[in-house]
Amino acid sequence: MENFVVSARKYRPSDFKSVVGQSHITTTLKNAIKNEHLAQAFLFCGPRGVGKTTCARILAKTINCENRQDNGEACNECSSCTAFNSNSSFNVHELDAASNNTVDDIRNLVDQVRYVPQKGKYKVYIIDEVHMLSTQAFNAFLKTLEEPPKHAIFILATTEKHKIIPTILSRCQIFDFNRIQIQDISQHLEYISKEEGVDYETEALRLIATKADGALRDALSIYDLIVTFSAGKKVTYQETINNLHVLDYDYYFKVTEALLEESISKALLIFDEILKKGFDGHNFLVGLSEHLRELMVCKDPDTAVLLQVSETAKSRYVEQSAKSPYSFLLSALSICNQADLSYKASKNQRLHVELVLMKLAKLPHAISLAAVASGEAKKKA
Ligand SMILES: Nc1ncnc2c1ncn2[C@@H]1O[C@H](COP(=O)(O)OP(=O)(O)O)[C@@H](O)[C@H]1O
Ligand SMILES: [Mg+2]
Ligand SMILES: [Zn+2]
Repeated sequence: MENFVVSARKYRPSDFKSVVGQSHITTTLKNAIKNEHLAQAFLFCGPRGVGKTTCARILAKTINCENRQDNGEACNECSSCTAFNSNSSFNVHELDAASNNTVDDIRNLVDQVRYVPQKGKYKVYIIDEVHMLSTQAFNAFLKTLEEPPKHAIFILATTEKHKIIPTILSRCQIFDFNRIQIQDISQHLEYISKEEGVDYETEALRLIATKADGALRDALSIYDLIVTFSAGKKVTYQETINNLHVLDYDYYFKVTEALLEESISKALLIFDEILKKGFDGHNFLVGLSEHLRELMVCKDPDTAVLLQVSETAKSRYVEQSAKSPYSFLLSALSICNQADLSYKASKNQRLHVELVLMKLAKLPHAISLAAVASGEAKKKA
């Protein structure tokens, strides 16, 4: 059997331009490198799996490249670059502060920092999860951070910026990494699927991207899992929702249809089916709100760009949106929102959601009554 390399490792970007969704950072770094205006200490902040370690390694490689390109990227061919690419460079040191957070660990590092690199110009020290360092370790490190030798560059990374003490913050150039947009993650997954020759439905990739909640690494792990399940054949939407235990968005279309028809019984039966499949009432309520929100933004071509669904699903939303009056969507959203807030407090949660559905199913009727009443009032006046 071939050795399987997880996608998160196989597709770790090797230059700045292939880093997804962090151009505000990669552009600044490239410019600083080109203008030889590089800070000696950086703080990379942001959630897990968005490219902090990746960018730190690319930076280390680029500033040591013997043949740097005019655009500020490493050549990926010289002996230094190849050493970096095969993880055998002596010019990058990574310390995981989550597991090495004592004074001794930091003293070891500080001792090493004094030595000039034997080859190349810079030694780069990446300290991951730097907020985990003990106070004493922090203090032992402060002096070095204040007056680092010319050849040393520090990149501190953290998911918890608020835990970093001001003395460290003030000595670093700070970069805030973004969560990655669903659209960007989907595109990246499409790119990988094409590289790997894996067939896919765009909705499936989009769902994976949504599940990952902004973390590209999580998206890649979920993706690997689904590809394994589908035995490399095709990543389908159906298989993905089954594996991730996500409710098919088709249900939301059906429920909304029932509500627009003012059919309480249909809506209740669909909800019953959803519960029988093991889904949670609160999730359904939240999902329904999101669905109504999507229908709302489709109403106006200007806000249609806010739609967070795949291209293929778009036409379905536009179609149902056209059938749903503004007033219905607005009132329905408000009812769902109220029910969301009071869900936890309710004693009978099933009835809580059912009551919402009953109210929603009677909305079109109530709205038309209100319209008639206001028409009558106008006639009298
Ligand atoms: N912005 C990104 N662009 C491309 N790939 C990314 C990005 N962020 C994360 N990844 C993928 O996830 C893996 C882990 O990313 P990493 O840089 O270690 O995240 P962090 O240090 O922010 O937790 C990378 O090897 C890469 O495959
Ligand atoms: Mg990291
Ligand atoms: Zn090079």
